Amino acid sequence: MKTNARASSGAGHSPDEPPDPYLERLCELAARDQWKLEELDWSSLDLLSLPELFRQTAADGFAQLLWGERTAELAASRLMELLPDGAARTFIATQRTDEARHVAFFERVIHLLGCEGRTRPSVQRLMREVQEAETPEELMLGMQILIEGIAHSLFLEAARVVGSFGEGDELDRPLQALKTVIGGWMPRLLARDESRHIAFGLHALRQSIPRLDRAERLRLEEKVTLWGALVLEQARDPDLVYGVGVDGEEVCRRLIDDLNLRIGQVGLETRIAPLKAA
Ligand SMILES: [Fe+2]
Ligand SMILES: [Fe+2]
Repeated sequence: MKTNARASSGAGHSPDEPPDPYLERLCELAARDQWKLEELDWSSLDLLSLPELFRQTAADGFAQLLWGERTAELAASRLMELLPDGAARTFIATQRTDEARHVAFFERVIHLLGCEGRTRPSVQRLMREVQEAETPEELMLGMQILIEGIAHSLFLEAARVVGSFGEGDELDRPLQALKTVIGGWMPRLLARDESRHIAFGLHALRQSIPRLDRAERLRLEEKVTLWGALVLEQARDPDLVYGVGVDGEEVCRRLIDDLNLRIGQVGLETRIAPLKAA
């Protein structure tokens, strides 16, 4: 692993750098918008009455998200070690707390489904790659741009789908419970956290990428190509998105467009290849 010396010229703001009002605002929002698992009414969630095949499919979908959250928690811990003291490090500390809560959230949902979620090999490989990233820029690109970008898009897409389910008495109680999780808690609480993390990643990378030398920048571009291929592998065989109940191909197309937009916003040239029409 590269050292802290590398971090001090790139991502993050050491105490001798001028204050960054945007980062300070993100830290304020992180403090304001904290929430606890115990504040949610888990006792009303009856998911076990859903048919087993349905529960297994849902558990598999949630398992991919759980892996993403575990990776983000680990990546936030790694970033804490790499960044100098300052607002960026303070923010990452709040993100690490958020990710630990997200991990616990999905573990609990999967437990309530009563099935063991199965993680796809391509998801495991992408997460492993990001966990092994060597610099703050690679970690932020992998975590805050790619993984959190995917998670954020999926949370919102899934919420949109369950939002079209009927209301109140029209729904069976277990389906209503699933709607509470996917259509209520995930967009209202988890996606709000992820928006903050993505905003941080975009802001930090926009500042640090122009400071990189040619070789470092090239390495980052290569990561986009490699990790983008893994994202595409999931998109081409999209059990992941079907698992959370949304139309795979169209969602993946939008997801890749969003990722490419963000990759462009941080000043990188490489793009994830668009999905070809079937
Ligand atoms: Fe998260
Ligand atoms: Fe996150």
